[in-house]
Amino acid sequence: MNPSPETTAEKQGFAGAVVASFESRMANEMRELIARHGGVPKVAPSMREVPLTENEAAFEFFEKLRKGSYDLVILMTGVGTKTLFQALATKFPMEEVLATFKKVPLLARGPKPVKVLSENGLKAAFVVPEPNTWREVLATLDSQRPVKGLRVAIQEYGVENPEFTASLLERGAKEVTSVKVYQWDLPEDRGPLTALIEAILRGETKAALFTSTQQVRNVLQVAQGLGRERELKEALRGMVVGSVGPLVSEGLKEAGLLADVEPEHPKMGFLVKEMSEKFSEVLKRKAVSTVWTHPSPTPSGPGRPLPLSESLFLKACRKEPTARTPLWIMRQAGRYLPQYRAVRSKVSFLELCKTPDLACQVTVEAQEALGVDAAILFADILLIAEPLGFQLEFVESGGPVIRDPFRSEGDLKRLREVDVAGSLGYVLEALARIRSRLKPDIPLIGFAGAPFTLASYLVEGGGSKDHAKVKALLKEDALWDGLMRRLVSATVSYLNAQAASGAQALQLFDSWVGILSPEEFKTKVLPYLRLLIGGLKPGVPLIYFGTQTAPFFPLLKDTGASVIGVDWRQPLDEAWKVLGEVALQGNLDPEVLLTDPSTVKKETEKVLKAAGGRPGHIFNLGHGILPQTPMDNVKVLVETVKTWKS
Ligand code: CP3
Repeated sequence: MNPSPETTAEKQGFAGAVVASFESRMANEMRELIARHGGVPKVAPSMREVPLTENEAAFEFFEKLRKGSYDLVILMTGVGTKTLFQALATKFPMEEVLATFKKVPLLARGPKPVKVLSENGLKAAFVVPEPNTWREVLATLDSQRPVKGLRVAIQEYGVENPEFTASLLERGAKEVTSVKVYQWDLPEDRGPLTALIEAILRGETKAALFTSTQQVRNVLQVAQGLGRERELKEALRGMVVGSVGPLVSEGLKEAGLLADVEPEHPKMGFLVKEMSEKFSEVLKRKAVSTVWTHPSPTPSGPGRPLPLSESLFLKACRKEPTARTPLWIMRQAGRYLPQYRAVRSKVSFLELCKTPDLACQVTVEAQEALGVDAAILFADILLIAEPLGFQLEFVESGGPVIRDPFRSEGDLKRLREVDVAGSLGYVLEALARIRSRLKPDIPLIGFAGAPFTLASYLVEGGGSKDHAKVKALLKEDALWDGLMRRLVSATVSYLNAQAASGAQALQLFDSWVGILSPEEFKTKVLPYLRLLIGGLKPGVPLIYFGTQTAPFFPLLKDTGASVIGVDWRQPLDEAWKVLGEVALQGNLDPEVLLTDPSTVKKETEKVLKAAGGRPGHIFNLGHGILPQTPMDNVKVLVETVKTWKS
């Protein structure tokens, strides 16, 4: 019998490609659906329901609670609290459960656990305000029930938060017990799931379907166990990824992945159908960008991009001669650029920084729109303030604000150890994406704030004209040393992680260091810069940028940086006389770009002449490009540098 036209069209859908699914309960239905749409199904269960009667963690916790072994119970989630009660009800009389819970102070992280408690006739002694993160939990406890000496139990659902536990212990909690009540666990036999992950890593699958958030977590957890989480994400990015609905898409996004297809109705059938319809088009689009991810191993020839290490920018960092002067522009992905404004009109600045896909987009678009020789990660030097324990905000038109600034000895205790992968994972994820999207001969620059400039924001609580508070704190030797050491240690981990995630060069921004005297710089800043730069893994050039640093030039030779950024206040030839054997980056006054094309050309040539074609010059502005800069002037600048002959 001839197939009906519709069946033929359906068959073409996945066109014989292997489609991965992690469905457990509906595995057979999923296989059938994929096959019906022309795909070869590879389905491996990724989770199993934990019967309530097997919730050993819940039972053990309750036995101890009955004996009075906890002084405080923290309820983190609504689902978890509900599951906890349901599990306990399978083994203990509910009246006893509720009577026991009534005797101990309960803290509810947000409205959901509050609701579950009230459904059971219970009341939380402490309710945490929005946005209900563990930081608000800590703040609530600090103000209402300091945990010093307390035995604390935390109901967890899904992943544990070691930072939170550590913060409680740091505050003197006597004991912190994490009570993991799961409804969903990994399958008992992980063999099929492991095999499917390995098939994805080998590139055998072309599409992946996610039908629950827990699947996303479990698949990544197993990949992590294999030490291949990052590779798996990379492989998934090259495939067509389907999400059954908005919650799953959100879960993917949190993991740094993006759903290519989300059906109109959150049902398995609709998902597979829409996936099959969009499959070939999405795959084609991805194939274009993955060409860059997996550059061909054939030797370079005409028309073939040079290896990254031979790029103009990296050669100049090593002070090697280059065919022309390389250039990039500080803040090149900023408000002067229409592409940036378009993205920024939809999201806040912090959201943009924290969404790897958008950060990737604005970084790559800026590099491509300008045709410059390097891309710089889109992020901010102040993002690290959050994992250090500060509340960071960017107020529209007013710049950054630190709500709870660093002022005294007590604040030193408040500083957290920064777990880079855990708290700044979105930056690392952005770097990985940018690297795979950029042309293979364009280096990517990662960056961080230098300790002094970072300290200045943390102490002043935001931008400052006179920097009076940080200058006063600088005089308190022990406190300053404590703060600087903590910042150095966090920044070393952060920058090394950036290099490992795709950055070929790193820049330290010390925008405000120029307010110090050379003596202050020498004794209160330089030792920490040396410590920091000495802690970086070798092989990745480090650019140290500051403004008004001319008085420190003799000292800057000793930082260990490969490249020194200079502002426009000193001509490059004079800077070189003092700085000696080091590469220089700079140094056009950003205000020149507010004039007219012929002035831009003339002033750009002045900078190029001062550099005189000496190897080791990277053209840049002396500080970030201003938001009101006209695009036409930027184009003239780029053109002038690219066509200049010494
Ligand atoms: O250069 C780039 O394109 C990469 C991204 C980048 C940003 N900030 C994006 C940003 C980089 C490298 C930075 C570094 C940074 N951030 C520095 C050092 C460089 C310098 O200019 O001195 C400093 C001091 C900060 C802190 C900061 N971030 C301030 C003071 C402000 C507000 C002032 C301003 O320019 O708006 C920001 C916000 C910020 N960081 C914006 C951008 C694109 C503008 C935010 C917006 O879109 O509204």
